Amino acid sequence: MRLIFIAPPGAGKGTQSALITENYHLPQLSTGNLLRAEIKAGTPLGKSVADYINVGEFVPDEIMLQFLEDQITKDIYAKEGFILDGFPRTLYQAISLDRLFLKYNFKLDAVLILYVQKSELIKRLAARRTCLNCGASFHLEYKPPRVFNICDVCGSTLTQRKDDSEESIKTRIRNYNNLTMPIIEHYDSMNLIHRIDGVGTLDQVYARIDKVLKYLDKSGLSQ
Ligand code: AP5
Repeated sequence: MRLIFIAPPGAGKGTQSALITENYHLPQLSTGNLLRAEIKAGTPLGKSVADYINVGEFVPDEIMLQFLEDQITKDIYAKEGFILDGFPRTLYQAISLDRLFLKYNFKLDAVLILYVQKSELIKRLAARRTCLNCGASFHLEYKPPRVFNICDVCGSTLTQRKDDSEESIKTRIRNYNNLTMPIIEHYDSMNLIHRIDGVGTLDQVYARIDKVLKYLDKSGLSQ
């Protein structure tokens, strides 16, 4: 199965993708997590994207497209499929992704869109704590780690992402509204969209997503 997850910053793409991966064994391909790993490792790519990411601006399309092609052709994603979390973010990326799917003979099964209002996004992002080691994400109130400030998964200390500052959050939401929202129409014309209410507890939101995935399975759309 190959899915695309589209949602504004803080809506829960990462959190819900991790649950889908756990329950459906569908690998998560998060461009944000992968780019942060490059920054942490100090690679040339990491150095070239850090300034964009920290202030909440998009990484230029040309860099992202090459990066994504390198990822989706890796054995694990080519064989097992993926849930794409964080790509595409511009109409140019969406059209280029269509071409990549054609080139590699991949089928896109569905596009999931999570809807959450701005005030809730800000609440979720302001109290998010992230593990820089394994990428796991927590929330001080809604999803607290078992031990204060320590990652449940790998035991590293949790930190606040640089782009979770007030200024960067505003930029990210504005970029989503101006540059990412237009791609919804693109996928609407392909009849691939499933709209999901992203407000509610983590379990309530997951139950709505699960219903869509079961429908895709049952109707053979994911074969
Ligand atoms: P990325 O890492 O993808 O950031 P984002 O899109 O801003 O999304 P977030 O990771 O902030 O939010 P999320 O939706 O995953 O929410 P989460 O599950 O953590 O990208 C970072 C940057 O990389 C971009 O800004 C850009 O610079 C660059 N980039 C990446 N891809 C790119 C591309 N294709 N083109 C150009 N640039 C690119 O949840 C948020 C918080 O809420 C957590 O604390 C969580 O515990 C909590 N939460 C989740 N669900 C619920 C719930 N139902 N109720 C209460 N709390 C909840």
